[in-house]
This record gives sequence, structure tokens and C-alpha cells, in this order.
Amino acid sequence: MKSTLSALLFAAGAAAHSAVWTINFDGTEYPALDARMDKDLGAKRIEWTFTNNNGVEGRPAPWQAITDVTSPGITCGLEPKYPALRAVARAGTDIVVNWSGMIRMHYGPVLSYLGAIPTPDTKAQGIKFFKVKGDGYDKAANKWANEYVLDNNRTDVVKIPSNIKPGMYVFRTELLALHGNGLPAPLGGPQFYTHCFNVNITGNGADTPEGVTFPGGYKPDEKGVAFTIMNKAIWGDYTSPGPALYEGKHDAPVGDSPVVYVKDTGIFPEEFQKKYEAIKEKEDAYSLAANDKFNSLNNPGPGQPRGDMTEFATFLAGHVKEGEKLQQELEALKKEAVELGLATPQ
Ligand SMILES: *[C@@H]1O[C@H](CO)[C@@H](O)[C@H](O)[C@H]1NC(C)=O
Ligand SMILES: *[C@@H]1O[C@H](CO)[C@@H](O)[C@H](O)[C@H]1NC(C)=O
Ligand SMILES: *[C@@H]1O[C@H](CO)[C@@H](O)[C@H](O)[C@H]1NC(C)=O
Repeated sequence: MKSTLSALLFAAGAAAHSAVWTINFDGTEYPALDARMDKDLGAKRIEWTFTNNNGVEGRPAPWQAITDVTSPGITCGLEPKYPALRAVARAGTDIVVNWSGMIRMHYGPVLSYLGAIPTPDTKAQGIKFFKVKGDGYDKAANKWANEYVLDNNRTDVVKIPSNIKPGMYVFRTELLALHGNGLPAPLGGPQFYTHCFNVNITGNGADTPEGVTFPGGYKPDEKGVAFTIMNKAIWGDYTSPGPALYEGKHDAPVGDSPVVYVKDTGIFPEEFQKKYEAIKEKEDAYSLAANDKFNSLNNPGPGQPRGDMTEFATFLAGHVKEGEKLQQELEALKKEAVELGLATPQ
């Protein structure tokens, strides 16, 4: 029973909870960390690694949210480690964050920060972040920032200011789901889904914006964090948490777009990558289907009655075998990673 349950959670890891699938810096796509499988496969990523974010005790899942604003995990996940790789981007270009499945009723803001890395041994919690995007609730459209991302094929476009000083930065992006506010522990409280990526920003800017550290950047009782969304009538009063937005300049980038070799994006050697993608695609397809099922039942659209949520449990139960099979395939891939010298035996 336990293995069945963990297989189910494994496959559904991203179903209830959001991670980043891929991220594009200045035209180059990089794989994000897949917390379900990358660690044991020796993957090199531009994303800071983290251990399971067990936001709720006893419910381990790779992409569990951090629910405490004072937790060191709010910066870049629990026990964040400096990544092996870094992206390259010219100041003034775009970052496109490609989020995994997303629950519509996880209403809340979507925020992005950049923070200069003084030296590679700087802890994530010591980095000073300035906000480059921080959409909350759009009153005119009656739409939350997470819904904009969801309706844009789950992508979020963030502009790198053109006038910041070149150098190594952490790009920190965050979904903050507010639906748990006002609910009792252990499920209650805000849910932070944060991800951090290293990027070497080039250009000729000189600005070094003031920043805040995390934890510390948000207060537990500030409106942007503690806001309860039960009462739709007050949604218009919402303001995103944290420091003021750094506007910066948005001039055209300097120089040609960077040339990035495939190995520097974190993509595995070709044959292994194919096998990795085959497993990942199945996991992601299942996670997405679970999300769509949940969203269609829970938020069927204006004027439509809410669906029977037991159908969601039936959906999950119907995929137990599939989850177990996926886990077996992953075990075989782990062995192969060790044989190929990509990973060390666990
Ligand atoms: C987002 O990632 C998924 C899974 O890797 C991929 O299929 C899709 O093409 C990506 N979308 C964008 C816009 O990059
Ligand atoms: C989402 O992706 C589909 C398939 O690639 C595309 O046809 C559609 O235009 C995209 N929608 C948005 C809002 O980007
Ligand atoms: C960042 O880019 C600059 C300019 O190309 C280069 O001199 C520097 O070595 C790069 N740093 C890292 C860590 O990639």
C-alpha cells in the first residue's frame, strides 16, 4: 500500500503543486530541476537544487510548498545548493518561465526577483533580491496573476532591466497561492512555490538596485501574504507583498545573442536524454491531466455548477498502475546513469 501511494504521489507530484519545467533566457531554453528524478541521475542544472519541500508535515512530495514566510526554504527551497551551470543573458532581454501544471483556484500573485551573487560561496539567504515583476490581482479583468500565467500556456515573461550592472545573478521566481489563508493548520496558510536559477547577465549598465533578503523580504502579517480570498468582494484591495518594483530601463540589449552549447544547458547526452524525456513526458502528461481534471471539476467556468470532486479521486485511483510502472522505469534509468558515469551510486 505504501509503495502504491508513493508511486501515485511521485507521478502526481506536480499535479497539485507547481514547479518550473523549462526556462528560456535570451532565446536559449534550459531544463529546470525535476525534483522527482534529477538528483539520482546526476543532472547538471542552472537551477539551485533543493531537498523535498515538505511544507506540510507527513506529506512529502517533491514540489510541496513552503508555508512559513520565516522559513529559510522560502528563498530557493529547503537546503538550496549552488547549481553546476548558469544561463547567459544580455540585459534588456526576456526570461520566459514555463511552469508545470497549475491549479486555477491557487489564486495569488506571481513575483520575480533578481539578486547579484557577490561570490559563489554566498548562501541563498544572504543574497539581496530586487523585484522585477510582481503582478497580483487585476481588478479590471477580475483575474489573478496565476490565472494569467495559466491562460498563457503556463508561461510568464519577465524582462531583465537593460541598465543593471553585468555579473552573476540569481533569478528567483515565485508563485504565491493564497487559498489556504484563513484555514486551520496544517493545511492552512500561504503557499510559496519558489525556484532559483543562476544567470550571467552581460551588458554595459551600472545600476545596483537595493534588495531584500529572504526570509525577511516578507512579513507574516503583511496584506500581500496574509490576505484571505474567501470574500471575493475585497479582491480589489489586494497588493503583492515585498519591496517596491524596480522599474529600471528597457532599452535594446547590447551585442549579439549569446552562443550556448547544448551541454551547458544541462541537457544529457543524446541517447540518455531521449530516455529521460520519454519518462518525463509520461509523468508530465499525467500531472497535467490531473490538473486539468481538477480545474474542470473545481472551476468549470462562469455559470457552470462545480463538479463532483470524488471524480478527481477516481481519476487518481485509476492511474496507480501507471505510476508504479513509471517508477520502475525511473529505477532502470538511475542504474544506467551510474553505468554511464553520469551519476554516482546512491
Ligand atoms: C514547456 O515545457 C514542456 C515540457 O518540457 C514542453 O513540452 C513545452 O514545449 C514547453 N513550452 C514552452 C513555451 O517552452
Ligand atoms: C498555447 O499553445 C498552443 C499550442 O502550441 C498555441 O496554439 C496557442 O496559441 C498558445 N496560446 C497562448 C495564449 O500562447
Ligand atoms: C560572465 O560573463 C562575463 C562576460 O562574458 C565573463 O567574463 C565571466 O567569466 C562570466 N562568468 C561566469 C561565471 O560565467
